Amino acid sequence: MTVKHLAIIGGTGFAAFGDLKTIREQHVDTPFGACSSVLKTVELGGEEITLLLRHGPLHNIPPHRVNYRANVWALHEIGVTHIIGVAAVGGINQAASPKKIILPDQIIDYTYGRKHTFFEEDLEQVAHIDFTEPFCRELREIVLRASADIGLDLLDGAIYGVTQGPRLETAAEVKRMANDGCDIVGMTAMPEASLASELGLCYTTCAFCVNWAAGCADSKEKIDMAEVQKTVEQEILAIRQLLIASARHFNS
Ligand code: HPA
Repeated sequence: MTVKHLAIIGGTGFAAFGDLKTIREQHVDTPFGACSSVLKTVELGGEEITLLLRHGPLHNIPPHRVNYRANVWALHEIGVTHIIGVAAVGGINQAASPKKIILPDQIIDYTYGRKHTFFEEDLEQVAHIDFTEPFCRELREIVLRASADIGLDLLDGAIYGVTQGPRLETAAEVKRMANDGCDIVGMTAMPEASLASELGLCYTTCAFCVNWAAGCADSKEKIDMAEVQKTVEQEILAIRQLLIASARHFNS
């Protein structure tokens, strides 16, 4: 029987995640180069999880330069079976307002030029994965139960449009995304989700909204980056509570 092991890929805001008791640190060499950070197995609210910082310990790796393949490979290599990828996003749908935590259930991928597959070289045969449901049901259920436990008003189900970045979108781009059905916009769920699927890992994104997407605020004002940063710092505390409760459910 495989031993279950939960990892969290932390994104924007994780520098302010607070002190966590380190159990072990692992540096993993991958055929795809270096991962974004050391793999730190920590105690989070008494639960053991492995943490990887997507944008690096100094938060200086932009979304389009993240080595998603190395990150996912390394986690798989050390025995991780389940991954929660945390991501800051902009809200397009009125229900996905700033400060809301969202558990998306679908993806539309607008990224380009990212190394997005393990099935590229030295193949015995062309390989395809089913990606009808990009996020793992089992882990979504765990996060949903955890959110109910802590009384969090989480938005269950949203289409996450993944853009290339690092710039934010134009208002017209967001309008097109809304027409496509996107509810939220972020820059990191792809290819993280599909790479995890390629390795048979159970992956879900836990998104938190930090601004209205371009052109979506009533005021039609530009997006204020200082305001976004403030929201990130406030929201990360709620994310932390949700992750602790999720880890508890995962291990129970
Ligand atoms: N667009 C893309 N990514 C984001 C946004 C946004 O408005 N906010 C946070 N991440």
